[in-house]
Amino acid sequence: MGRKILVTGGAGFIGSNFIHYWMKKYPEDRVVNLDKLTYAGNLDNLKDVADNPGYKFVKGDISDPEVVGELFRDRPDVVVHFAAETHVDRSIGNPDDFIRTDIYGTYVLLEAARNSEVGCFIQISTDEVYGSVEEGFSRETDTLLPRNPYAASKTGAERLAYSYFATYGLPVIITRASNNFGPYQYPEKVIPLFVTNALDDIPLPLYGDGLNIRDWLFVDDHCSGIDLLIHRGEKGEVYNVGGGNLLNNRELTGRILDYLGLPETLIRRVKDREGHDRRYALDSSKLKELGWSPAADFESEMNATIDWYRNNRWWWEKIKSGDFKKYYREQYENR
Ligand code: NAD
Ligand code: DAU
Repeated sequence: MGRKILVTGGAGFIGSNFIHYWMKKYPEDRVVNLDKLTYAGNLDNLKDVADNPGYKFVKGDISDPEVVGELFRDRPDVVVHFAAETHVDRSIGNPDDFIRTDIYGTYVLLEAARNSEVGCFIQISTDEVYGSVEEGFSRETDTLLPRNPYAASKTGAERLAYSYFATYGLPVIITRASNNFGPYQYPEKVIPLFVTNALDDIPLPLYGDGLNIRDWLFVDDHCSGIDLLIHRGEKGEVYNVGGGNLLNNRELTGRILDYLGLPETLIRRVKDREGHDRRYALDSSKLKELGWSPAADFESEMNATIDWYRNNRWWWEKIKSGDFKKYYREQYENR
């Protein structure tokens, strides 16, 4: 008999990659995907599993105790909680949804989980909780200094999850991953935005001096880290999941343009993001000690990701010609 896995936010970027990963690796398990289908949720991401008898989609909000309660009555063995508002720029413009979903929604899930028999609750957090790390590498015991409303909401959510471990014994494990890249990432995020703009000969809006550093992680390596933690992680613990590929945004943009054979004149320097964190960098030795290591070769996965967007215009053209247009105008015009 397979396990029952409840995934929240499975129609988003990492969640949908995780569902693909899991269903391929553990075909005997049943996966239920609870997703509100916000602007970032997209059932196109899951087309190929939609009719699989081991997969079920439930449209609903994690902040709704009725929907969530109903799903917990089905007694999931594992919960992997991805659902969140995730884009820093949107959180700067309007933090409201971030507080509602990332904090309050997580609380509703935790409440339902604590009255259940769930064996493992994975709280997906982020390296942004450490704040800007000018030098060195963040360890799980470092001080948390989130500096934008998204990062602060995620910090609230993961600390709340931890409190359910400490207070009620809920089997929570927290992951803090670095910047993911791969297929099905909503084109507001820098890699799919820059690749799809470049393919359409639209300038690439590089913030500030372009020297902010991110630690890039191929999405499948994030999924394999979560997999390992479900099986071997210690409850109540936090694990960093970093790709170890530190690049500043100029270098990243240069690589994209270079691979596409396009000139650097496509880059347009624009006003910086408010409170823009300068650098994230993770020390992932705690997860490595459990046996994890990123399988991906950065350069080849980056190139494969660029090729995926090049070959899947059907996926992103639909998005970029819809509501996204208004967002793009507001975010980038006159910047
Ligand atoms: P995403 O924005 O692509 O997807 C989020 C998904 O959550 C969408 O499908 C959306 O419809 C759903 N959702 C939003 N609000 C909801 C609600 N109230 N109820 C139910 N579903 C809701 O996000 P992503 O990049 O895939 O990130 C997934 C998780 O991983 C988030 O928790 C994020 O904080 C975390 N994370 C992301 C990264 C990254 O680089 N993308 C890195 C570290 C951690
Ligand atoms: O670090 C993990 C986090 O990574 C996740 O928790 C977030 O959910 C995810 O959105 C991501 O946050 P970032 O802010 O790092 O990602 P984003 O793709 O928005 O930006 C990456 C870098 O690129 C950042 O330094 C800002 C810069 N940037 C971004 C955009 C959208 C630009 O220069 N121009 C842009 O248009």
